[in-house]
Amino acid sequence: MRLALKLERRKGVDPTQGRDPKLMYGSQSATKKVTVPELRARKSTLLGSPELAPKIAMVTAYDYTMARLADEAGMDMVLVGDSLAMVVQGLNTTIPVTLDEMAYHCRVVARGLTRAHLVGDLSFMSYQVSSAQAVESAGKLMKDGAESIKLEGGQEIAEHAYRIVRVGIPVVGHIGLTPQSVHAFGGFKVQGRGEGADKIMADAIALEQAGAFAIVLEAIPPDLAADITSMLTVPTIGIGAGAHCDGQVLVCSDLLGLSRGHQPKFAKRFANLGDAAVNAFSAYVQEVRAGTFPAAAHAYKANAQSAAAQSERRPPISASGDELDAPLALDRWH
Ligand code: KIV
Repeated sequence: MRLALKLERRKGVDPTQGRDPKLMYGSQSATKKVTVPELRARKSTLLGSPELAPKIAMVTAYDYTMARLADEAGMDMVLVGDSLAMVVQGLNTTIPVTLDEMAYHCRVVARGLTRAHLVGDLSFMSYQVSSAQAVESAGKLMKDGAESIKLEGGQEIAEHAYRIVRVGIPVVGHIGLTPQSVHAFGGFKVQGRGEGADKIMADAIALEQAGAFAIVLEAIPPDLAADITSMLTVPTIGIGAGAHCDGQVLVCSDLLGLSRGHQPKFAKRFANLGDAAVNAFSAYVQEVRAGTFPAAAHAYKANAQSAAAQSERRPPISASGDELDAPLALDRWH
């Protein structure tokens, strides 16, 4: 069945068009904005060489500081994911976050990016009702700085995706474990086993035909992700979908080791900033309590007046802490 769904792969144009790929992809010094046509052309199977089409690196960010750091590191795509409900707002699922909240975070993340492409996530119930609602919601995120939008679902939302693409808004699809459907799935569970594999294949085709320029594959078996990747002409971006996708995405707090609770199996920690932060906070607490912070190095220069003049400003205090000369110019303290 899966084989029957395979499309003949169309050969793409070399996206580098004679330019040095190192300057185009992932170099810290490259500050030119990553564009949708460039990302679409990063279909590794079209070019067959990781030198010519390095895999797409994508991460979530929810604020200006994180966005700047990811951008400086050479990230290709930054996603303001609705995972912000769980990472930033401390909720159990992504369902409650609103479109207004997504728009606010798109606005602040956009200010931190000079190179990476910014994807805004459509929140639960901001696109499922109708194509008109989907286009309107997508437009809102674009006005707030997104350069493309992502929405969850396959065949059932393909028409909405098509309408969004038709008004000139680039679309990223998202299939497999789509967290907005967590209750229908009965939890955050791997999708696409058994019969489910054919549905996800068909979803991928529907999204490509609707005009999505990339598709996120979340929590599906690696062989299914590999089949989808070789079938599609647009890049796949995996998260818990194995090594054969055209790119990878991770949640920034998982990648940096900032998350304190359960970490999904696929979420490799590239640093342990959570522990580093706790250590730094506790060192600060100690120093403030002990009075060793701030030291002279952290204080501004004193006023130009002499030490004598300054001491005159203060009522002299005895060793017991009592004021010795209370009437001394209390008015100077105002
Ligand atoms: O919201 C999110 O962070 C996402 C990624 C996990 C793909 O959708």
